[in-house]
Amino acid sequence: MKFFIDTGNLAQIKEANDLGILDGVTTNPSLMAKEGIKGEEAIAKHYKTICEMVDGDISAEVLSTDFATIVEEGKKLAAIHPNIVVKVPMIKDGVKAIKWFTDNGIRTNCTLVFSAGQAILAAKAGASYVSPFVGRIDDSGWDGMQLIGQIRQIYDIQGFKTEILAASIRSALHIIQAAEMGADVCTCPLDSILGLLKHPLTDIGLAKFLEDAKKM
Ligand code: G3P
Repeated sequence: MKFFIDTGNLAQIKEANDLGILDGVTTNPSLMAKEGIKGEEAIAKHYKTICEMVDGDISAEVLSTDFATIVEEGKKLAAIHPNIVVKVPMIKDGVKAIKWFTDNGIRTNCTLVFSAGQAILAAKAGASYVSPFVGRIDDSGWDGMQLIGQIRQIYDIQGFKTEILAASIRSALHIIQAAEMGADVCTCPLDSILGLLKHPLTDIGLAKFLEDAKKM
């Protein structure tokens, strides 16, 4: 399973990248706004900086919702760097735009996916990635991980090549479960990635080893 970091924060991207386990980055308008990135030029510059920091796919989301503007915006985003993947919402014009991008050699990440039916449409349109929002499904009282498993099963039976990118990850446990469910990619906040490190027996064991090392 590939590890992406879900943030627009450069310090966090650097920290995850320095660990040596980072395969890419996903962003969204909320995450970009959180970093105070405003205006077309600043947005493009920020994406370019991320692309130069991380050797992997970088998702950049379109801000429009009609076919023609999504295509124009996506073409501009894709021109920033070869690693840019255009993130497109799961709406009617979005599906149409994903198909257009597929036919024109531009890679896409279909976002805001909450059902198996939406995931089938994304795959049919040729999306490179599909992003089911696990945490937001959990928030509404459903089981987000079950959706990852269901999409995995459908894609395998049907031979769809779209990669399943588990998004809206909220914990280290979510990452483990996404791996169990066969997600191709998990995009995570830095805290969830670092959460995987934690085990009290590791800390106790290391303290003992260090203490005994003084007697060596
Ligand atoms: O980038 C999409 C997704 O990961 C959002 O996560 O935590 O806002 O539901 P969250």
